[in-house]
Amino acid sequence: MTDAAPATTWITLGRLDAIPVGRARYVEAAGRPLCVVRTSETEAIVFDDACPHAGSSLSGGHVEDGCLICPLHQWPFRVADGVCADAAGIHVRQYVSRVRDGLVELADPGPR
Ligand code: FES
Repeated sequence: MTDAAPATTWITLGRLDAIPVGRARYVEAAGRPLCVVRTSETEAIVFDDACPHAGSSLSGGHVEDGCLICPLHQWPFRVADGVCADAAGIHVRQYVSRVRDGLVELADPGPR
C-alpha cells in the first residue's frame, strides 16, 4: 500500500491563443459543457458553461473588471473563484486547469 496520491489525468481542451484575451469559448470535455475563459496572455480558467441564474451559455460572455459577464442578463462571476459578485451565495463551478505548451488542459474531474 502506498500513500502517493493518484496522478492527475489532464485533458487537452484546445489552444490558448485561439481565444482572445477577455473572451470565452465553449468546449465539451469529460462529458460536460464547459466554458474556457482566457483571462490573460498566459492564463485561462474553466467553468461549467451553464449560468446558475437561468442556464445561459457563459461561453458567450466576456471578462470585465475581473468577472465573467453572462451574456443574457449580465450577472458577473468572479474569474478567481466563480462567485457571483452581486450575490455571494451563487456561484458557477470552476475546474482545475492549467496552460502548458500553449494548450489549455483540464484536470479530469471524474464521473459526473
Ligand atoms: S442567465 Fe446568466 S444572468 Fe441570467
